[in-house]
Amino acid sequence: MNLNNNEIINLIINRRSHRKYLDKDISDDIIETIINCGRNAPFGGKPKPDCQVAEYVIIKDNNIKEKLTLNYEDRQFVKDAPIIIAILANKDNDSKYQEYILSSALSIENMIISAESFGIGTCVLSCFINHKKHIEDKNITRKILNLPENVELIALLTMGYKDDSEQIPEKQLKNYKDIVYLDTYNKYLE
Ligand SMILES: Cc1cc2nc3c(=O)[nH]c(=O)nc-3n(C[C@H](O)[C@H](O)[C@H](O)COP(=O)(O)O)c2cc1C
Repeated sequence: MNLNNNEIINLIINRRSHRKYLDKDISDDIIETIINCGRNAPFGGKPKPDCQVAEYVIIKDNNIKEKLTLNYEDRQFVKDAPIIIAILANKDNDSKYQEYILSSALSIENMIISAESFGIGTCVLSCFINHKKHIEDKNITRKILNLPENVELIALLTMGYKDDSEQIPEKQLKNYKDIVYLDTYNKYLE
């Protein structure tokens, strides 16, 4: 079977994070489509509105973008992103099993792949969910976005049309057979 011409597979395998964007607006229709792809990802619980965990803030305001850099040297690209989407998890919609991080993460990947399909590059920014040293930074970000207590900040996703002049470092992955086991852990494939 020739899988090389499968567009979706190629898009997923060749996707990279992009941190340099063209100064070109992303239309509201495209943003809505990307978020629609996000919210159609699987989520823990019944396929009903009161189990839908992921919520989103579309950030266009330059002042807010600037604040979200947190003065981190390696986050300066954030303020130049045409759009940033904050991906949130409303914990009220998953109070029993607390699977909201997984649900929202699946939503993020759907958004990344759908953005790629429009030629829009993205970069996930960690929001320090479990990082003790960065609790203060997380709280600052929560305040900037005006988040209530029951809403977890999962990640920020920067997005913009790709600037082809960006130098993206080569990606090196572990060998397939070093990370994929058969039936039980550490039983390697032939
Ligand atoms: C949980 C998570 C946190 C990340 N945090 C950051 C970040 O704070 N800053 C950044 O520039 N990239 C961040 N990234 C992007 C990773 O650096 C990138 O996905 C990884 O190096 C693999 O490269 P690729 O996306 O080009 O395949 C994050 C990605 C994930 C999934």
